[in-house]
Order: sequence, then structure tokens, then C-alpha cells
Amino acid sequence: YSQQNTIAFAKSNDTTVISKHIYGHFAEHLGRCIYDGFYVGEDNTTIPNTNGVRNDIINALKALNIPNLRWPGGCFADTYHWKDGIGPKENRPAIVNTWWGNVTEDNSFGTHDFLNLCEVLNTEPYISGNVGSGSVQELADWVQYVNFEGKSPMSDLRRQNGREKPWKVKFWGVGNEAWGCGGNMRPEYYVDVYRKYATFMSGVGVEGGLDKIASGASDADYRWTETLMRDIPHNLLQGVALHHYSVIDWGSKGSSTEFKEDQYFKTMQRSWKMEELIQKHTEIMDKYDPERKVDLVVDEWGGWYDVMQGTNPGFLYQQNTMRDAMIAGMNLNIFNNHAQRVKMANLAQTVNVLQAVILTEGKKMILTPTYHVMEMYKIHQDAVLVPLQLKTDNYEYKGEYLPAISASASIDKEGVTHISLVNIDLHDSKNITVSLDKVYKSVSGRILKSAKVQDYNSFGDPEKIKPTDFKGAVLKKDGIKIEVPPFSVVVLALK
Ligand code: AHR
Repeated sequence: YSQQNTIAFAKSNDTTVISKHIYGHFAEHLGRCIYDGFYVGEDNTTIPNTNGVRNDIINALKALNIPNLRWPGGCFADTYHWKDGIGPKENRPAIVNTWWGNVTEDNSFGTHDFLNLCEVLNTEPYISGNVGSGSVQELADWVQYVNFEGKSPMSDLRRQNGREKPWKVKFWGVGNEAWGCGGNMRPEYYVDVYRKYATFMSGVGVEGGLDKIASGASDADYRWTETLMRDIPHNLLQGVALHHYSVIDWGSKGSSTEFKEDQYFKTMQRSWKMEELIQKHTEIMDKYDPERKVDLVVDEWGGWYDVMQGTNPGFLYQQNTMRDAMIAGMNLNIFNNHAQRVKMANLAQTVNVLQAVILTEGKKMILTPTYHVMEMYKIHQDAVLVPLQLKTDNYEYKGEYLPAISASASIDKEGVTHISLVNIDLHDSKNITVSLDKVYKSVSGRILKSAKVQDYNSFGDPEKIKPTDFKGAVLKKDGIKIEVPPFSVVVLALK
């Protein structure tokens, strides 16, 4: 067993930019994400809000520089009829949210509410269109409603509802999980459905046209990606999605807070799987699109556990521990390192659902460890990728092995090099040597760690886990020596 962890900057003439859209988020009409999460209503006098959306959430997301927000689903998207969510709120029909708890959805948060929120957040909307139970006309109308500047039936309707200028929404999902909740389609059938829908979605008024993103594979369904890449003309296809959750076992996911090392190790195995999935889906995409014009869009990722005791099983409410910080740090490193093909990703989900960055309870709001990882990593957004050669020890558990360290690096517009590092080993610190490509004057850093991997921020102790200064990196002549503690995330700035 050696302590031989090394990082070298790989020589490369390539200047791949890490798209900021890798740091995207996802807000579905699910449980307490929108209602009693983001949206508390315009009439709420106890929780400060802007057009009904909590100000504390707005400020927290602004601090992350969130680049895009996916909405309204998820599975919900393929049941959603957007015209139910426009016009005077008192006239909007109530529907049943059949995927998530069979609760009544009063449609009080609709297209204007979402797109105005995106403007407040200075983030790009990513709308998932209803392909499963909608129609081609309905989706074409939605595009016209939000994007068309001139006179048309839909832009007139938008003006009637109080919005003069179009929002110019670029990112559109053409269905969601078409192989499952989006219609249980076979890929051969979905490609024809996709071709038809995409044909009628007009890009008029949007610079460069729309980015139409096909509902992608679940995990290792390579046949799905192959069929899409082969059979959809690439002028209709700007992105192909991929969904992968770090779930131990769909039948028994385990508690989000009470877990032992065997469960932790399995979660890390599932999380590392993302590397293999991206490599293999990319290989298929490279075969049909060697110039890499079609993006891989990982528009759902994150940890998924049993719901917190006493909460609605259909609401997917879970706590967020240092285990989730490991998932976040590792996955974001993987996406960064594949930035040539992965141009967008969306953590599931933003508030009160799955691996949330924010949890709320009445007036209170907390930031989870995952939030802090996103905040520490925001320096990579739109920075130039620095490919790394990484040698890492293994994290061993009962005769099984995983790479202990994951890392990625980039250079920002000011010329500062950042390296993000995750050590998933529960027991050992890792001593890492970074060999230098040029002379640096200083190294500084921040770290996210806690005493126990099961630790989390609670409403009683909201700041138990937050980033602190990192003193474990020393600049020497022959490189930087770093000691990364067990289950911690470190981000370094080299100047
Ligand atoms: O994120 C929760 C659900 O997971 C989404 O609605 C669906 O797309 C996926 O199965």
C-alpha cells in the first residue's frame, strides 16, 4: 500500500472551455420543490419574497451563479399542459400531480412565474416540453408564446397576460425519460416522435436557434444513445440527455443520514460509474458526430435515498450529508474532465427534493454540503479546462477498490489556476504531489469537511458544515504538497 498520489498538468494544445452550464439545476413540480419551496405565494407576508418566490432562495442561488434552471420536470413535464399555467391565477384549472403523490396542483406557478424568476436569477431557462401526453401543436405554441417578438396568436396571448417582450428561451427538452415515465417508448419509435416535434419548434428570434435536447438514456442504455445519434438528423439535434443517479439499489435505497461504510462504499461505486457512462456514451456519439456538435447533457444526476421518516413518499425529501458532498465533488470533476462533450448538467433537484442544495422549513432555510461544493466549484464555470494526469491510491473496503482521489483543474479569465480535489476515503488522508508546469507565487485554498461522513446541516445547526480556509497545501520548488483529509473536498487557487 503506497502513498503515491500525483497530479501533473497534461501537455495539451486544446483549449476546451468548461461550459458554465455543467453547473445547472433542476426544479420540478415535485413535493416541496416549487410549492412550499421556491414559491410561497405573492400574498405571503411572513416570508420575504419577490413575485411569490422566497428572497433567501433567490439570494442563495445568485451566490452560486446558477447558469440554467430546468423546469417543470422530470416526469411531471410529460403531464404538463402549459396553457393551464398562464392568465389570472384564480382562473387556472387544478390538476392532479399523478407522478408525485397525487396531490392537487393549482397551477399557480406557471410559465410567466418561472421565466420571470430566471430573469431575477440571471439564469437561462431550460424548459422540458410535454411529448408524452401533449401534442406537436401544443409544444410549437409554447415556443411561439415565449419566444416570438412579432404579432402572432401566441405572442398576442402573452401580451394579453402582461408580458410584452419575449423571454427568448434557448434550451428545450423534447420530452423526458421517453423510455419510462415519458411514454414507455422504444428508441426506434421515440426518434420518429422526436423528429416530428423538433421540426415544428421554431428557433425564430433566438440567436443561433434553439438547443433541442433529446430525452436520453438511463444509465448504461447504450442502444438508446446509438439509435438517437444514428436516426435523428443532426440539424434537429443539439443535445442528447443522460440520467444517472447514485442510488444503491432502487428497491432499498437506504437512509440519507443513517448509513454504514458498506452503504457509503456502494454509493461511491455508483457515483464513480458516471465516469464509465460518460466515456461509453461519448464513444457512441463520437462515432456519429466526430466533430462534437451534439452535446451530452446530463440533465439529472445526484444521490437518491429513502425519504425522511414521516414525509410523503411521493415527495422525495431527503437530508444531505458529507456523502452527498462527495457525490457532488466527484461528479463535477468528471463533467469538467469531459467538457469536450458534456456541455450541460443538472443536479436533481434544487430545493427540498433529492440531492437538494437548499432545504426549507417554514421561514427557515439551510444550505446543504452540496450547496457548498457547488459554491466552491463555481470558479470552473466557463474557465479553460486543464487536463490532468492523476495517479491515485485506492479506497479499499472489504476487498473492493475505488480510486480515492478525483480531481479537475481549469484556468480562469484572470489566469488563476484552480484545482478541485475530492478524497472519498473514509479513513486515510491523502498526500498528493502536484508537479508544476510553471512558476507560481502562491497557493491558497478552501476545504469542506466534517467530523463524521453522516454529518449534515440541520435547521437547529445550519452552519455545522461550511467551507473554511485550507492550510494543507504547501508550495515547494518541485511542486505543491497537499494533504487532503478523509471525505473532504478541497479547491486550490494557484497564482
Ligand atoms: O428527479 C426525480 C425524477 O427522476 C424525475 O422526475 C424523473 O425524470 C427521474 O426519473
